[in-house]
Amino acid sequence: MTRSIEVLFTPAEYSALADRDLSGTACVVLDILRATTTMMTALANGAEAIIPVLEIAEALALKEQQPDVLLAGERDGLRIRADQSGGVDFDLGNSPREFTPEKVRGKTIVMTTTNGTRALRACAQAETVLIGAFLNLRAVVNWIRRELPTHLVLVCSGTREQAALEDTLAAGALCERLWPYYASGQVADSAEIARRVYPLLQADLLGAMKHARNGQRLLHHPELRADVYYCIQRETLNFVAGLHPDGAVRKLACDVIPPPAGDTTSVYSRPAA
Ligand code: MLT
Repeated sequence: MTRSIEVLFTPAEYSALADRDLSGTACVVLDILRATTTMMTALANGAEAIIPVLEIAEALALKEQQPDVLLAGERDGLRIRADQSGGVDFDLGNSPREFTPEKVRGKTIVMTTTNGTRALRACAQAETVLIGAFLNLRAVVNWIRRELPTHLVLVCSGTREQAALEDTLAAGALCERLWPYYASGQVADSAEIARRVYPLLQADLLGAMKHARNGQRLLHHPELRADVYYCIQRETLNFVAGLHPDGAVRKLACDVIPPPAGDTTSVYSRPAA
């Protein structure tokens, strides 16, 4: 069957996934600033699972059923507080730096964010849903190279209803690396766009974040500025996580994924920001 590669830039595009046949499709969900970076960090620090939900009320209902879960998430970038939830201060916000081993080891975390958890839920019918972050791009690339899904959809979570530069760059990094496996198939222009943008900006991701709406917002917030530096780190985590049929994000069985034998090239060998 002919392989295909496509990038979805905006929430309007990934909301339409509900009407598509996603058999044979792997989605990689990217919310670089910050939801998918935070999920990867939580799992790296020993969290058992993350359950992405859309609404605060949904998170509270799960907490009632399972009192041991931690509640995490943001509205307007900040931790959800009692006045937004009818009386419950969430345990964590959406800063990856909060998800320390002391706080998350062995825990299931119910998480609701503005775009990231929405993008994940929109992909739920896909055969495979992977969590993408700059932290683990190579592991994602290696997983895709090994499994070679027929249809690959890179889902950028975006900022509010718009495209986000940081997610587009991560999608571009994946496209560049996976091009040899998909270029002879059906290549959407969106994948071509992302692939061509990434090399222009990859040497200075921090500089790029200063021009991104989400990046600017975080950089201007004294307590959240360091998140941007954290989220643009490349190649710090060597595992893949995915959305399981029960709706929870967990590490996939293959924990450490080495590059294929003889592969000495890497998008990460270039100077990082
Ligand atoms: C989101 O899910 O919309 C983002 O992760 C927002 C944020 O940076 O907190």
